[in-house]
Amino acid sequence: MQAWLNKLSCPLPDSLRTPVETARFELEHALPGIPVQLTVAPDRGDAWELAESPDGWVLNGGETGLLYGAYRMIMDVLSGETLRPCATAPRYALRMINCWDNMDGSVERGYAGRSLFFEGGRFAYQPERMQELGRLLASAGINVLCINNVNVHEPAQRLTEDFLPALSALASLFRAFGVHLMISVDFSSPLRHEVSTADPLDPAVQRWWTETADRVYAEIPDLAGFLVKADSENRPGPFTYGRTHAEGANMLARALKPHGGVLVWRAFVYNCHQDWWDEKTDRPKAAYETYMPLDGQFEENVILQVKHGPFDFQVREPVSPLLLGLRRTRVSMELQLAQEYTGQQIDVYAMPPMWQEIFDEVPADRLDAVAAVSNLGRDANYTGHPLAALNLYAFGLLGWDPEQQPEAVIRRWIRLTYGFAPAQEDALCALLLGSRRTYEKYTAPLGLGWMITPHTHYGPNPDGYEYDAWGTYHRANRDAVGIDRTESGTGYLSQYPEDFREKYKNPETCPDLMLLFYHRLPYSFRMRDGRTLIQRIYDDHFEGCDEAERMAETLKTLPFPEPDRQVILDRADRQVHNARSWRDVINTFFFRFSGVPDVRGRILRP
Ligand code: GCU
Repeated sequence: MQAWLNKLSCPLPDSLRTPVETARFELEHALPGIPVQLTVAPDRGDAWELAESPDGWVLNGGETGLLYGAYRMIMDVLSGETLRPCATAPRYALRMINCWDNMDGSVERGYAGRSLFFEGGRFAYQPERMQELGRLLASAGINVLCINNVNVHEPAQRLTEDFLPALSALASLFRAFGVHLMISVDFSSPLRHEVSTADPLDPAVQRWWTETADRVYAEIPDLAGFLVKADSENRPGPFTYGRTHAEGANMLARALKPHGGVLVWRAFVYNCHQDWWDEKTDRPKAAYETYMPLDGQFEENVILQVKHGPFDFQVREPVSPLLLGLRRTRVSMELQLAQEYTGQQIDVYAMPPMWQEIFDEVPADRLDAVAAVSNLGRDANYTGHPLAALNLYAFGLLGWDPEQQPEAVIRRWIRLTYGFAPAQEDALCALLLGSRRTYEKYTAPLGLGWMITPHTHYGPNPDGYEYDAWGTYHRANRDAVGIDRTESGTGYLSQYPEDFREKYKNPETCPDLMLLFYHRLPYSFRMRDGRTLIQRIYDDHFEGCDEAERMAETLKTLPFPEPDRQVILDRADRQVHNARSWRDVINTFFFRFSGVPDVRGRILRP
């Protein structure tokens, strides 16, 4: 057993079928000396409460509630906390992991080895690992697992037909952990089945999807539903037929409805064929422009899944205006555990501080669900970098209660995973809490994003996305950098409520870290601390790199057990190398453009 359940070493028997059986088994084996009586209250779902009784504890909850309660009790005891009576229910009903796994065994944006589920065009998994994964997910409160990539390639397009028995067998392994499978489907699927169109308003298409859903649910009655990426990055979708995304999503949702399934429809829609000369089109505006007019038009079992920022999982982005705007649509917020742009599970990047900023901006009642792109793979430790497991764990905890403080979550994870002495726990906790700022400092400056190597998304390339079609520009020249997204510029800021606009509209008062996201400014612009913009860019890069070097030193002093230690130290060296490369390339890029020397003379070659 890996990660935070290291201490829960008892192998799981094959015989477990239901969450209640699993709860009972786990409690008996992990806490043998503590009597716990389980009482099922079927209508309570994921909620549970723990009370003291004369002869021990009473755990009362829905079937899955008992499992979550059992894991919480076990983890409390294992992390040295005292058991206390309590009652809890999750803030979001759906807490979903989206795997971007392809059936050939590769994982899109995967940094932890090959797929856990597929190889060679078919299902290929180890049942024991699936149980372990179920245990990991349930212990963090995660209840939905979408197993295949949103970009649905062959043969995953046949998941709803040829692969149903295999899908059903996999679903039964996860059932004992309260984890419901979900699958990504291709909007154009009917075209491969002698239906001449995929037009959502065509009765033959509707019939095909209804029959398909019936067939799938006959095999897997508790499938969570379908996930769809449509009209996005060249995927097929309703636009081909002149239909709206409400028409497309609703057609699928109606097919799922009789079975209680949800249709998760991604809002990641933008023009990926932009002419870089075109300064009017501004990619961050796209999702809001597409979906706000549709607010209120979706079926009640449609969930619109919106990435947390308006771009694409950059180190720093504002919260998506769509998350603040939608009022009459069920919404899921999509986070990314896979460290695509954030160090690829080589660089340490603990996400809870970033997520706290996001959750602080989005009123809790706006969301119905949370989803995260998976950081899992076939590596023995599941997440490639052992410290990246924190992000999976933290996602589950924050999906249950987004108000939990990053530090508390991180400490708990360290205690469960490593059980360090207090000083070492403090050191690792501080390192993790600061890791996102460190990465941010040595990569693209002050909210700019995208100065990363195209396609692979690791390492610096300031102009890599500049003269391209993806809508991701910094427009640096010898005088200035950034894009004016206020009303005088692209108007993006006007997609937000008034208080938000006020906060960002003036460069003089806009928070520093978001400055170049909203404003185009000369290098000589005076920051509030008196430094020029260009000097701030240089300084951040030197600081970020120094911090990465110190992080590597700290990691060496900590008593990680093997094999974690070796992996962590190897990756720390690679992170230092990466940080130096970013520092030098970004600083030199700006120095060459601006001709402004670093006041401390650290950039030597023009
Ligand atoms: C990013 C990522 C793609 C992915 C896409 C998505 O652009 O680089 O690999 O397909 O997001 O979220 O759909």
